[in-house]
Amino acid sequence: MISLVDGYLGRIMLDCQAHLTGAVADYIPELAAVDPGGFGLSMCVHDGHVYSHGDSAAAFTIQSISKPLTYALALGRRGFATIDAAIGVEPSGEAFNEISVDQRRRPKNPMINAGAILAASMLLPQEPTVSSDTVDAAFADVVEFYSACAGRRLGLDERVYASESATGARNRAIAYMLVSFGALQTDPDAAIDLYFRQCSLQVTTDDLAVIGCTIANGGVNPRTGRRVLDQAVAQRVLSVMTTCGMYDGAGDWVTRVGLPAKSGVGGGILAILPGQLGIGVYSPLLDEHGNSVRGVDTCRHLSTDLGLHMF
Ligand code: DON
Repeated sequence: MISLVDGYLGRIMLDCQAHLTGAVADYIPELAAVDPGGFGLSMCVHDGHVYSHGDSAAAFTIQSISKPLTYALALGRRGFATIDAAIGVEPSGEAFNEISVDQRRRPKNPMINAGAILAASMLLPQEPTVSSDTVDAAFADVVEFYSACAGRRLGLDERVYASESATGARNRAIAYMLVSFGALQTDPDAAIDLYFRQCSLQVTTDDLAVIGCTIANGGVNPRTGRRVLDQAVAQRVLSVMTTCGMYDGAGDWVTRVGLPAKSGVGGGILAILPGQLGIGVYSPLLDEHGNSVRGVDTCRHLSTDLGLHMF
């Protein structure tokens, strides 16, 4: 059975191998240095077994796939009422780094940068100045939570973190815009630092598959048996991933693949079949929305072939 499924994943990857179009993210200079040919696929099923093929052990930075996790952590720490008052749940139809808010001056959802930066800020004391020790403590909490979802200790890619910190003017602009609207209540530089760090955590497609299966499982990691998030939080995260996870490509994704998902400019995609499985794909060449070209293609093939579309 195991080699049968591994062989099947290999065949799907072969079908998608030819689609070497797109471009690596280069607005974070360190991301431009990755091997554009990297390609990995993993699937974690409800008993915790992980099937994988290709570069499934290659480490890459989680980038925006961190957003549903930090949103989940913020919901758990601060509660639904506080987070919903601060961050909307509507698809934006805009690029991930758009500088925009809704009519209530909230970020439109937690999957775009504005909402993700605000979600990270909710893990800090709501004070105008925050010490670097406090950011360290919040980051330790983030690492602990992401690691519990993945079932192993995740580490920081220092070079990508330094690279994004040195070039992150647009995200700083978003944070300061949120301050000017009264939406961000803490030190914007501390919030941005925490956000840059969470984006620079390293994962493999095996990790993404386990993280996905943990959320699919209502918050219980299928490998460790540990509950890491509440059922209601898992349900909310899956809902927002379905409508907003692929940014302005979300409609096309939901129509063709039919799974809650989140992409990252590191080249990863996390896709989830609620109640069933988690899928992690890695291929760093991106389309115009910032989504992995071969990652999207692979998920389309998998969904069609295995009948994973939810609707
Ligand atoms: O905020 C940024 O620019 C990055 N650290 C993350 C962006 C990202 O992954 C967008 N998703 N595809």
